[in-house]
Amino acid sequence: MVKPPGSEPRRSRRTGPTPLTLRDRPLVIAHRGASQALPEHTLGAYRRALEQGVDGLECDVRLTSDGHLVCVHDRRVERTSNGRGPVSTLALHQLEALDWATWRNPWRDLDEDALDDDPLASFVTLERLLDLVKDWGRPVDLVIETKHPTRYAGLVERSLVELLHRYGWARTRRGVRSPVRVMSFSWISLRRCLEMAPGLEMVYLMERVPLRYRDGTLPLGASVAGPSMEIVRAHPEYVEAAHAAGHEVHVWVANAATDIELCAAIGVDAVITDDPEGALRQLTARSTRLR
Ligand code: G3P
Ligand code: CA
Repeated sequence: MVKPPGSEPRRSRRTGPTPLTLRDRPLVIAHRGASQALPEHTLGAYRRALEQGVDGLECDVRLTSDGHLVCVHDRRVERTSNGRGPVSTLALHQLEALDWATWRNPWRDLDEDALDDDPLASFVTLERLLDLVKDWGRPVDLVIETKHPTRYAGLVERSLVELLHRYGWARTRRGVRSPVRVMSFSWISLRRCLEMAPGLEMVYLMERVPLRYRDGTLPLGASVAGPSMEIVRAHPEYVEAAHAAGHEVHVWVANAATDIELCAAIGVDAVITDDPEGALRQLTARSTRLR
């Protein structure tokens, strides 16, 4: 990967993962946890991904009616739980009472090994996920996606930054990089975060690359480009353009072996995947082969 002078990666955390220049494979980020194996955004899915050895975890965050940030992808809870309604109209205790696992395993009730109140099957608050990362025993990145539009608008970012401050993760301290990156399709959301926490890394997600950013540049303040896998398949040259403009490239969602191989071959910095175990196995084997 060719990087112009002055565009060294921003991974300066002394105790953190290997700097990109020294790494021989893309980072593997678990999309909603190990979500191909277990119900997305559950504690079990996140723990499984960590046990598999991922470099980072991805989550979506939404605000509950009583002001808690919770990790749920959809605006409403119907697809992934036995409840009804928008996340934003439900209180934390209501969300905690729902079943977030059976939708992936309709026979769960008949499974003697599945505990009724299995904490691993519960969805997680962002605070719970931050604790998991903090206590895991090795450096792990956490990539937090703010979902918009939402009725709470800027309150999401304010709550997020306040929470990160409590962990000391809203800024770089004494040269130690925060393990958190904020990610969004909404540039307004990222800008709000940047205003409150200028030291945080921002990933600008794209389903299509706007004309003015096709040269690899990003809105001022965004450090990482987050194109979809479809973009990278259609325009692999975008990765080199983003690198030349000084930006890392984190691609979502890379599941197929051919996509993982393409990402590695063209120097993508991180793959966000539903199958972190498969991606790690493939990328490790590839590095060994090329060594
Ligand atoms: O990692 C980015 C990706 O998660 C964006 O799409 O819909 O899965 O949140 P979505
Ligand atoms: Ca997401």
